Amino acid sequence: MARRRQIYEGKAKIIFEGPEPGTVVQYFKDDATAGNGAKSGVITGKGVLNNRISEYLMQRLGEMGIPTHFIRSLNMREQLVREVEIIPLEVVVRNVVAGSLSKRFGLPEGERLPRTLVEYYYKNDELNDPLISEEHIATFGWAHPQELEEIQSLALRVNDFLCGLFTGVGITLVDFKLEFGRLWQGDEMRIVLADEISPDNCRLWDSRTQEKMDKDRFRRDMGGVGEAYQEVARRLGILPEH
Ligand code: C5P
Repeated sequence: MARRRQIYEGKAKIIFEGPEPGTVVQYFKDDATAGNGAKSGVITGKGVLNNRISEYLMQRLGEMGIPTHFIRSLNMREQLVREVEIIPLEVVVRNVVAGSLSKRFGLPEGERLPRTLVEYYYKNDELNDPLISEEHIATFGWAHPQELEEIQSLALRVNDFLCGLFTGVGITLVDFKLEFGRLWQGDEMRIVLADEISPDNCRLWDSRTQEKMDKDRFRRDMGGVGEAYQEVARRLGILPEH
């Protein structure tokens, strides 16, 4: 049987042509990279967990009225999503100081921010995804100011919902990264949430012990990465069966 046409291979996912026009298949790999590829490895079972976790979160967000690219799960590692024109921004939402924010401003990790912070990074591996301002986005035309307003509003709504959902299962949502796409339907265009939401692109800390349950375990060589992802799925009540 002819293999489906591969459209794109990223660090953690492969995108294949979908069965119907306007759809693509997201395949979740076990590969993990950090520091823009400086460090790489395999976390056995990660793809299965991220596929399930992202499916669950996208579905819950969809039910809350957040438009997403998600259509349906296909199997343990694949989901069918709408083909969108990815906006070249990494939208980072932060509730608690961690990671690059901590480094940039010399702030201790773990300090709660006085208000939610939304940051934009230009999605470009060769440039190491530089931090940018709304002015850069408008000047270089990466998103129309009206689109950016919509993106910011959606990002804050996603944050509100996910904070509540994770708090309910004893997890603090420290920060996360979102990507958005333009979905064309005839002449109409809508901004929708795209990519994935998983422990690969969120910081999730156990609310009681502050233990890390996300990709920082891989980035910082802490071990127990697969177990942590599994625990996130277990708490959400969606641990895939073996
Ligand atoms: O490294 P930094 O502190 O800027 O990351 C903020 C959040 O965005 C983290 O949850 C991280 O997992 C996510 N992120 C990502 N992809 C990147 C950069 C950051 O998913 N390229």
